[in-house]
Amino acid sequence: MDVLIIGSGGREYSIALALTRDENVGKIYFAPGNGATDALGENVAISDYSELADFVVSKGIDLTIVGPEGPLVGGVVDVFEARGLTIFGPTAGAAQLEGSKIFMKNFLARHNVPTAKYVETDSLEVAYKFINTLDAPIVVKADGLCGGKGVIIAQSHDEAKKAAAEMLSGNAFGEAGTSIVVEEFLDGYELSVFAVCDGKDYVVLPAAQDHKKLLNNDEGPNTGGMGAYAPTPLVNDAIYAKLDKRVIKPTLKGMQEEGNPFKGVLFIGVMVVKGEPIILEYNVRFGDPECEELMPLLKSPASELFYKAATGDLKNATIEFHNKYAVGVVMASKDYPYKNSAPAEIIVDTIYHEELSQNAHIAYAGVTRGEDGKLYATGGRVLVCVGIGESIKEAQQRAYMLVGQVHFAGKHCRTDIAYQAL
Ligand code: AMP
Ligand code: GLY
Repeated sequence: MDVLIIGSGGREYSIALALTRDENVGKIYFAPGNGATDALGENVAISDYSELADFVVSKGIDLTIVGPEGPLVGGVVDVFEARGLTIFGPTAGAAQLEGSKIFMKNFLARHNVPTAKYVETDSLEVAYKFINTLDAPIVVKADGLCGGKGVIIAQSHDEAKKAAAEMLSGNAFGEAGTSIVVEEFLDGYELSVFAVCDGKDYVVLPAAQDHKKLLNNDEGPNTGGMGAYAPTPLVNDAIYAKLDKRVIKPTLKGMQEEGNPFKGVLFIGVMVVKGEPIILEYNVRFGDPECEELMPLLKSPASELFYKAATGDLKNATIEFHNKYAVGVVMASKDYPYKNSAPAEIIVDTIYHEELSQNAHIAYAGVTRGEDGKLYATGGRVLVCVGIGESIKEAQQRAYMLVGQVHFAGKHCRTDIAYQAL
């Protein structure tokens, strides 16, 4: 089958790499892709959803996979489905689980899914009143999509009130912040759990742990994610069982009952507090960089997972994962996450070490191919070095060996990815 992947990051690159290992997959297209995806398939510069659907029809593409949340919340799946095309991802209605934190929190409350105590409001008075009932730190969240920046962890009541006032006035995040969620702070450890869903049935992937802070030891500002690993030993069977019973099942059932059956990736942001999984948030797509570690662990053909989920047929799929570990280290550009950096040529040393070449690879993200045919770092998160191993330690060593082979001016990365597991 031929496949179109919508998106341009390392996540989409890693999905394509998994598809290239699958003999059922023919040609891969990317819309728009990045400077390295053109080595795995063909980049297509179309962003309008109807024009993309025309393209899919004209090329006879069998399956479209949507990577990022933007097109999902924007309704690309609705457009494709109205044309009878097979597409992996939730409709705009179902994507509200990520597109609106208020929708998500109210949904969790309606279906008794454990989440932090909260109030949703567009009134400063209501926000202040609720803030006064909480102990600091206090969490203030903009309702809409803010590219991962709409969450403030305030260290005092005053700071929380200031954040709420700035959001509600529209100064902080524009329209996306004119309604807010204020919630209690949860103190525990964070997990990323992914369920690939077909509307009714689902497959739970190995749980991952992201590293959102820029610097070692989880210090510095938040980023899109500086590295991740999977599976994490911080999840045990008891936590998986609780997630299954209290979170995934009621969510899929609730979405079905409310007329928004969920198809695609349900990304469950979990805080484990004293052994109890509490839901921080839902996203409606794979995490990035988590996807870059999960795809290489997939043993079953990737098309089996994505196509069966897209066509409501997961109950007839047996999805298997390698009994191995993956660690991914993000290499970022000079001024990430503060500002854009000047383009820098990327040079990857030839890898003679067979153990490394067979157990480590790069997932390219913020890269552009120059007219000279060379690859340049042009995005914030430039690429992810992924190591695979029989243990987390081995996978980590391989990931960092590969990091040592990659050069571009201003490159930086964390040197402690997976530390919580070691
Ligand atoms: P969100 O976009 O809702 O996932 O929030 C971004 C990050 O803020 C999360 O990954 C957590 O690290 C942190 N966070 C969000 N909500 C809470 C909370 N209630 N308690 C503690 N940390 C939180
Ligand atoms: N890695 C976290 C995210 O993709 O939102």
